[in-house]
Amino acid sequence: MSKKLVIIGGGGKGGPIASCIEYNKINYDDNEYVVYGFLNDVESQEINGYPVLGKINEYEKLLNDPDVYFVFAIHLVKNNIKADELFKTFKIPKDRYATIVHRSAVIAQGAILEPGVVVLAQAYVSNAHLKLGTLVMAGVIVGHDAVVGPLAFLSVGCIVGSRTRIGRSAFISLGAKIVELNEVEDFAIVAAGAVVISNVPTKTVYGGVPAKFMREI
Ligand SMILES: CC(C)(COP(=O)(O)OP(=O)(O)OC[C@H]1O[C@@H](n2cnc3c(N)ncnc32)[C@H](O)[C@@H]1OP(=O)(O)O)[C@@H](O)C(=O)NCCC(=O)NCCS
Repeated sequence: MSKKLVIIGGGGKGGPIASCIEYNKINYDDNEYVVYGFLNDVESQEINGYPVLGKINEYEKLLNDPDVYFVFAIHLVKNNIKADELFKTFKIPKDRYATIVHRSAVIAQGAILEPGVVVLAQAYVSNAHLKLGTLVMAGVIVGHDAVVGPLAFLSVGCIVGSRTRIGRSAFISLGAKIVELNEVEDFAIVAAGAVVISNVPTKTVYGGVPAKFMREI
C-alpha cells in the first residue's frame, strides 16, 4: 500500500512536490507515495486539485495514521527565519518525514538524504549530505562532500559546489552558484544569479558577481 503524503504548505513549493509524485507514478509505476493532501492556514478547500486536510497545526491528528508521512514545503525567501520557527514547533518524529526523489534526478552513490529531503526533476546530487527537510528544486547541481541544511532551500538551477556548507534554513536563489569550499551560514540568503566566492555570514543577504553583502535580514 502507498504511503500517504501530507504536504505542509502551499502550491508554490508543494505543487512541484505533488507533480513529482504524479510523474514518478505515471512514468515509473512508482507508488511509494500518494498525495493525501495539504495542510495550509490560508487555503481551506484545495490546492492544485488536492484537498486541504486542515490548518497546519492540525498535523497531530494525522500522525495517528501510521501510513501518513509529511513534507515541509514552506521555504520563504523573505521569511526563512519564521518558517524555521514554525518547523521547530512540530512534534513530528524525524522518521515520519518523507524522502522524495524525482525519477529524472540523479543521486550519486554515497549521497546521504535525510528524512524530509525532496530532490526534484533533473537535479544532480553528488556524494553530498542533505539534511532534514532540505528542498532541492529542478536542475540543481550539488557537488561532492557538500553539507546542506537542515531546511535549506536550493532554488531552480543553482549550483552548490564541492565541499561547501549550506546552513540551516539558508536560501539559495534561482541560478546562484556557490563556489567550492565556501560556507553560506544559517538563515543567510544568496540572491538570484549570484556567484559566491567568500563565506556568507548568518542572517545576511549576499548578491551579485562576485557576491557582496546586500543587507542584514
Ligand atoms: C535577493 C533578493 C531576496 C532581494 O530582495 P529584496 O531585499 O526585496 O531586494 P529589492 O528587490 O528591494 O532590491 C534591493 C536592491 O538589490 C538589487 N537586487 C535585487 N535582486 C538582486 C539580485 N538577484 N542580484 C543583484 N542585485 C539584486 C536591486 O536591484 C536593488 O538595488 P538598488 O537598491 O541599487 O536599486 C531577491 O532579489 C532575490 O534574488 N530573490 C530570489 C527569489 C528566488 O530565487 N525565488 C525562488 C522561487 S522558486
